[in-house]
Amino acid sequence: MKRLLAFLLALVLALPTLTLAEDVPLISYVSDFTQGTDGWYPRSAGQAALIAEDGVLTITGRNATWNSPGREFNLQPGKKYRITVQVMHHEDEPFELMLSAAHSRNGSESYENLGKVKANKGCWTTIQASYTPAQYDNYILYVETVGMGTRDFSIRNFTLELDQPAYDMSLPSLKEAYADYFDFGCAVTQSEALDKARMDFYASQFCIVTPGNELKPDFVLDVAASRQLAKDDETAVAVRFDAAKPMLDYCQANGLKVHGHVLVWHSQTPEAFFREGYQASGAFVTREVMLARLDNYIHQVMDYMQANYPGLIVSWDVVNEAIADGTGKLRESNWTKVVGEDFVNQTFEIARRYAPEGTKLFYNDYNTPDPTKLTGIVKLLESLVADGNIDGYGLQGHYGSTTPTPSKVRAAMEQISALGLRLRISELDIAISDNSDVKQLTQAYRYKALFELFLEYADKIDAVQVWGVTDDLSWKASEYPLLFDGKARPKPAFTTLIELASTLEK
Ligand code: XIL
Repeated sequence: MKRLLAFLLALVLALPTLTLAEDVPLISYVSDFTQGTDGWYPRSAGQAALIAEDGVLTITGRNATWNSPGREFNLQPGKKYRITVQVMHHEDEPFELMLSAAHSRNGSESYENLGKVKANKGCWTTIQASYTPAQYDNYILYVETVGMGTRDFSIRNFTLELDQPAYDMSLPSLKEAYADYFDFGCAVTQSEALDKARMDFYASQFCIVTPGNELKPDFVLDVAASRQLAKDDETAVAVRFDAAKPMLDYCQANGLKVHGHVLVWHSQTPEAFFREGYQASGAFVTREVMLARLDNYIHQVMDYMQANYPGLIVSWDVVNEAIADGTGKLRESNWTKVVGEDFVNQTFEIARRYAPEGTKLFYNDYNTPDPTKLTGIVKLLESLVADGNIDGYGLQGHYGSTTPTPSKVRAAMEQISALGLRLRISELDIAISDNSDVKQLTQAYRYKALFELFLEYADKIDAVQVWGVTDDLSWKASEYPLLFDGKARPKPAFTTLIELASTLEK
């Protein structure tokens, strides 16, 4: 009896592990093809076949470039993977082979090319790729050719490995170091938000998050659904929030604030928004229809946030980058063409109407310290201040390793805050041309000099937000502009900012 009980107990204890095993995403995987095809199969509608021999997998009978050895992998969205595979062929002419991913969501398949190499006859050549999958229902990795749809080729030594930084949760925290002065925040994108370990690290350093892309009209405006609605009513608008949801959920659950970015911008906005029937090739709608669409859009965004995330979004970039470089005049865009020169004022009026009480409304722009542009920005801000719907100005802060000088940034902050506006440093990053120690120190010095200035103006600044956290995921990854490197290790810039804060009187 005792034995039976012990057996049953062992079985019960084993059960969760057994059921889990199938769902546990991969940490590492190797296909060496010594035991056969190892789950790889020929992707083709026709005759393609796979042969596994002596650790080499060969595909024959192809009739399209995508005919390929492929295999399903249980990848985890948001995690970064390092993948390598060796490729070889026996044709006289060299040709390119490519590692790709096929994935599907709700039954519709899509593809990404992850890395490619040109291979010469008889030479094993390695494809190396780094891949951070977005959320899909399944993932197939496969090796195809660029053209050359009938050529045979072989692969060997496939490896896949989770490229997980060792997040150091014991580092001093930027948000704590600067808590007496302003909110210290960062931008986050969709795939980062799917990685809980990464987000926990961000939450240890930052107290406010800007969705890097996910609340832009490109992501929020549901063009297909709007098209349907427009059959009855040209002013109707359909919206969706699936891209932003994971990060908003995370911020809500973990007590982070969110800065909304952005309601109106000339970029990352579907052309169809401005056109009859939401057809990108249609004629422009009238000013009245466009203002009604804008009203419906902003109304729904604000209502959705209030219903699902009350109090989470503390401020919004209402309009982004309306002033042109060089002239300081309004930038010509679909907004000026369809609504007219007062589109910024109109947008603020609508945003104020629907924003929950206490939400701060910002105008956001780059190259602020440029004298000509600054003159244009100040003129626009004066008219917005006169309308009474604006709370502040966001200096984006995408800076270089020598410009702008802190004194120019100071002049801009001085002039703008004199209008009675709050300030945000909304998208700070400092580009360097290579990742050498010297450049990293120059960068640290630049961050420090700018933060000394921000500290001087701390009573006027709501938040300083860096545009990303780790260099590898920055929109300027090749210019290493952030405070943490690609493995989430603190760079000199981080250490310098922590040191600077420690010298401040409490
Ligand atoms: C950038 C994002 O970081 C990129 O991922 C995207 O491809 C382009 O937009 N000014 C802004 C931000 O206001 O929205 C931009 O973000 C960077 C410049």
